Amino acid sequence: MAEEMRIVLRNYGKVDPLNIDTYLAQGGYKGLEKARSMGTADLIADVKKANLRGRGGAGFNCGMKWSFAASAQADQKYVICNADEGEPGTYKDRLIMENDPQTLIEGMAICAYAIGATKGFIYLRGEYPFLVDTLNTAIAQAKDKGLLKDFDLEVRSGAGAYVCGEETALIESIEGKRGEPRFKPPFPPNIGLWGKPTIVNNVETFANVPVIVEKGGDWYAAIGDKAYPGTKVFTLTGDVNNRTFFEVPTNLTIRQLIYDFGGGIRDGKKFKAVQIGGTSGGFIPESLLDTCIAFDSMSAIGATLGSGATFVMDETRDIVDIITRIAGFFEHESCGKCAPCREGTARVAELMEKINEGHGSAKDTTLLNKLGTVMSYSCLCGLGQAAPAPVLTTIKHFEADYAAKFK
Ligand SMILES: Cc1cc2nc3c(=O)[nH]c(=O)nc-3n(C[C@H](O)[C@H](O)[C@H](O)COP(=O)(O)O)c2cc1C
Repeated sequence: MAEEMRIVLRNYGKVDPLNIDTYLAQGGYKGLEKARSMGTADLIADVKKANLRGRGGAGFNCGMKWSFAASAQADQKYVICNADEGEPGTYKDRLIMENDPQTLIEGMAICAYAIGATKGFIYLRGEYPFLVDTLNTAIAQAKDKGLLKDFDLEVRSGAGAYVCGEETALIESIEGKRGEPRFKPPFPPNIGLWGKPTIVNNVETFANVPVIVEKGGDWYAAIGDKAYPGTKVFTLTGDVNNRTFFEVPTNLTIRQLIYDFGGGIRDGKKFKAVQIGGTSGGFIPESLLDTCIAFDSMSAIGATLGSGATFVMDETRDIVDIITRIAGFFEHESCGKCAPCREGTARVAELMEKINEGHGSAKDTTLLNKLGTVMSYSCLCGLGQAAPAPVLTTIKHFEADYAAKFK
């Protein structure tokens, strides 16, 4: 396999997740110590300078987000780690939490210090119950050592809804309500959990923070792609020789992920498509494999970097059948709060089933194009906005696969 660059997975296999001393022996909590020796304004300026952008999918500048919460006036502020990881094919956050939970806790404690928060939550994917004990043990050990000072941290388990990964639905869920997204603005850094300034960051985002603080924003900003620096953890699945995970600088190409790390397509077959970023990621054809994996280059081709889930399909895969299953997933996961998503995901699923069963025509793909475009503009949250991407990109790049199913 090609060379990795490990920042967030730097301690993978080197520390015992249930023994904080092994983390301390690797230099753990030096970042927090340094952060506390800096003024909060300098600390946030350095994280901004690193240009660390959210690893949960939206790619927002982390330091900038922190600065909004830091400048908000309130008697209570919160830090939330989004560990919902509901994206099919993604398990990068689990890797971090089950192997090196202290990195996440240290990153959250640095954020709490930066914005002036005294309470934090790790919102854990409902399907990861085995991680509750690991995280609770790690938090208790950090508290016992006096490392967290006045920062109180608690684990909350989700109930297994995909939409609860959306930050405002997640906040509703912690508040004990049904997990539905809120209207934005206001954004959580101003009005978040129980109406208080709240930072929500992904596990991988927080895991970068201790190293950035220790080595400095300039060091981080010089790694990988200029506009989306640092590394990204990818989880590679589907028809590749190595179904695995790896952490690489952000200036690689999609082709490098599949061939240098994935070892190419299985059983000597030909490549057909790759979907990156999870279920709502666009489908990418062979002609675009030399695209850089960084956030903005991916957006420019109508694809996403998203969570880094990378699903490779060989020449034998039935694209229309795969898209039909994906459409069913979104119909099921739509929370139903807004009409464009509630109705749109159901109609997309209906049309895809019709085409997949051989009863469709070119009129249906025209309709799907219109409907998908309207949804991408009008849905309340990212679930409905991104749900049509697989349909739209396959109609564009794999038109022949649809035509082959027309009656
Ligand atoms: C339907 C949906 C699901 C999401 N699921 C996750 C998730 O599982 N984990 C995550 O970190 N972000 C998820 N997000 C993105 C969050 O809303 C938010 O942008 C992110 O937690 C912010 O953290 P970051 O800036 O560190 O990426 C999801 C968004 C949507 C619309």
